Amino acid sequence: RIKRTAISAEPAQHKKSKDLRVVLQAFDKSDRTKEFLCDAILNNDFMKNLEMDQIMSIVDCMYPLEHKDGSLIIKEGDVGNLVYIMEEGTVEVSKNSKVLTTMGPGRVFGELAILYNCTRTASIKALSNCKLWAVDRQTFQAIMMRAGMQKQTEHLELLKNIKTFESLREDILSKVSDAVDQVSYADGECIVRQGAKGDSFYIVAKGRVQITQAKSKWDTPVYVRHLERGDSFGEAALQSEETRPFNVIADDPNGVTCLVLDRQSYREMIADELSRLKRDESVRYARKATTFISGEDERDL
Ligand code: CMP
Repeated sequence: RIKRTAISAEPAQHKKSKDLRVVLQAFDKSDRTKEFLCDAILNNDFMKNLEMDQIMSIVDCMYPLEHKDGSLIIKEGDVGNLVYIMEEGTVEVSKNSKVLTTMGPGRVFGELAILYNCTRTASIKALSNCKLWAVDRQTFQAIMMRAGMQKQTEHLELLKNIKTFESLREDILSKVSDAVDQVSYADGECIVRQGAKGDSFYIVAKGRVQITQAKSKWDTPVYVRHLERGDSFGEAALQSEETRPFNVIADDPNGVTCLVLDRQSYREMIADELSRLKRDESVRYARKATTFISGEDERDL
């Protein structure tokens, strides 16, 4: 029987292993090259929003690679294993045999199949000898995953130190740390506006925010207080479906970062759990009182 194997323009992916077990291998490169690769990533629409430490890890793990004039670097429809950055040369991008564009130094390509787990969306052919840098899928995904887990651990540490959450079990806080979005605000940016409907609950993770409040629509808001890392706000409007009772404005020259939880997650993970704990506490208290009145030993309960 003939064994059919897919023909790919790229080297095959190594044996699958758990992404976290991938040993990240750094390749030596000059500071100038690192800066060049970093700028290329920051100029790519699909990668520019990665965290800076993720970008630096990708840059560290990129290795040099050359393709001869006329060679097919990426074949449309392939599974795809590498993300490339062009250092020298020109490539042609085509889809369904139609040329879309040409690209030169400083351009990232091959990112879509790796970022979105799809097959190659276009073919890329070298129009000259090309000097490239590449990183493989496993390394790329391991960097993404590690950064995600580090973030989750950081979030969990912050949540554990919040007074309102001190009665919540760690597994619940762990779920919350998975569900929050990390959002950044520039100095002076309004995070919550008085009178607006509220859909989110916020925890300050970095920087300071200022609370202001106006007596009426026509009054100028006046300063109430500052909140810092570990403080939270926004729960009132989520619980009672009322509008926001105050303004919250980012007040930090280095910007503010908040962990943001949507209304439904807040209700399911936090509000319901806190009311259940409160209910249990009242039942325990009532039992204790009954025991005390009847003279039973409370240890029998
Ligand atoms: P990927 O789909 O992994 O492999 C083919 C690459 O071609 C793709 O990632 C992009 O980097 C690039 N590409 C796809 N479409 C275009 C386009 N219209 N213009 C420029 N580059 C493209």
